[in-house]
Amino acid sequence: MPPKPPISPVNPEWRTQVIAIGSGKGGVGKSTTTVNIAAALARQGYSVGLLDADVWGFSIPRMLGLSGQPKAADGLIQPPEVFGVKVISIGLFTNEDNPVVWRGPMLHKALQQFLEDVAWDDPDYLLVDLPPGTGDVSISIAQFLPGASMIVVTTPQAAAELVAQRAGFMAEKSGLRVSGVIENMSYFRGDDGKRYPIFGAGGGRSLADRLGVPLLAEIPLEPRLRELADQGSAMVVSEPGSESAQALEGAAKELVNLLPARPRPVPRISLPVGPG
Ligand SMILES: Nc1ncnc2c1ncn2[C@@H]1O[C@H](COP(=O)(O)OP(=O)(O)O)[C@@H](O)[C@H]1O
Ligand SMILES: [Mg+2]
Repeated sequence: MPPKPPISPVNPEWRTQVIAIGSGKGGVGKSTTTVNIAAALARQGYSVGLLDADVWGFSIPRMLGLSGQPKAADGLIQPPEVFGVKVISIGLFTNEDNPVVWRGPMLHKALQQFLEDVAWDDPDYLLVDLPPGTGDVSISIAQFLPGASMIVVTTPQAAAELVAQRAGFMAEKSGLRVSGVIENMSYFRGDDGKRYPIFGAGGGRSLADRLGVPLLAEIPLEPRLRELADQGSAMVVSEPGSESAQALEGAAKELVNLLPARPRPVPRISLPVGPG
């Protein structure tokens, strides 16, 4: 019998911490945050997978400068690796001019394949970039991976916070455990050193309080973050000293505190038996 894939609902040994990143609406920086946290976790020495499950609005391949279909080997899809992160996206299997219309059952099947038929190689963390809002994708993820956590990304203004809260409640109904909040675009630091709250203030904190979970980070608005994402790079890798990179590194550390990597099973060592 072929070995069971490590990430699988039928495999009792799977130990990967699965963290879905969700948001109420698009454009709040969910994918940017996901990519940088994944890269930060890899820099901290963890093995990391990134599943882009934003089937309609995938942006991870572009953000990581990836294109072309992954190869298969040993009956498994081999995920390309960027910044030490193994990545799979539906965007690697479709092209921009010919999008796939994903519907319930097919979507469910595709996500199952991306969990079970990819050589994730038993990572410490698997981050899942969800589509905005919640729905079929979250339900499927929760079904395949009971116990998966969700982090909600929001911007600071009250209106965004309410939409994010709805997404959080819906995620819990579909079986994901909301574990934390990340506030993005929290402020812009001017040349005068002052913080300018472009999108208001306090939304992340108040959302975290309402959901009863910790606020993991407040990430500033920094044009370089967008520029690097557009170039297929990541702030935490290219400019680790910047304020946003520090905040993203901090978010990754908080995440590890909250959801520590599970210990690896002790490998069974069989020593060769020599004569005498
Ligand atoms: N903190 C930030 N500072 C500057 N630009 C950001 C920041 N966060 C995200 N962006 C930019 O905003 C846009 C939307 O971010 P993205 O991560 O694609 O959002 P989502 O995945 O929530 O739709 C992208 O162009 C991204 O580069
Ligand atoms: Mg996105």
